[in-house]
Amino acid sequence: MPAALPVAEAGADVVAAEELAHLLGRGAPRAPDRDSLEAWGRAVGALLPRPATIALEGDLGAGKTTLVRALAQGLGVLDLEAVTSPTFALVHRYDAPRGPVVHVDLYRLKGPEELDALGWDELVDTSPVLLIEWPDRAANSLPRDTITIVLSHDPSEPGRRSLRVLAPAHR
Ligand SMILES: Nc1ncnc2c1ncn2[C@@H]1O[C@H](COP(=O)(O)OP(=O)(O)OP(=O)(O)O)[C@@H](O)[C@H]1O
Ligand SMILES: [Mg+2]
Repeated sequence: MPAALPVAEAGADVVAAEELAHLLGRGAPRAPDRDSLEAWGRAVGALLPRPATIALEGDLGAGKTTLVRALAQGLGVLDLEAVTSPTFALVHRYDAPRGPVVHVDLYRLKGPEELDALGWDELVDTSPVLLIEWPDRAANSLPRDTITIVLSHDPSEPGRRSLRVLAPAHR
């Protein structure tokens, strides 16, 4: 069946992630203040199919952890105070009704060999939901179906961020 070929080539997981990214991008606020970023994050968390890998890109203070906390809330995580940048541990795990939410912050990653020490491959294979801050540190090791959310500061509007959702093919 020729129509099935592109799916087979890209992998069904990647095709599904492409579609999800487009859907999320259409509903996303373009220049959210903190409240609307959080509201969108909660909505996305509540509808997120599993397994899912979301990379969060953006400078220091862009709002990555803020968005992770909102996603976690939508995913049913109760202990939201635990959702902080896992700067020293690099990896945090939060209990949620449909399986753990795994939150990784790679800011301090020293090199790819440190990914092995983290048990990266197992994290990727076994996390129902994997949320990654500073994903560029692991660029070549990200799953192929990773959806990327990019947050950036707007110097003229300190209380807002620009928000984009990138499908796997556009990373
Ligand atoms: N529109 C907005 N969206 C998100 N955060 C905002 C917004 N406006 C202001 N903020 C503030 O910006 C800060 C964002 O911090 P946060 O820890 O989420 O950033 P981060 O990208 O995770 O930073 P880091 O790279 O240090 O981990 C918070 O103090 C938050 O209240
Ligand atoms: Mg952070």
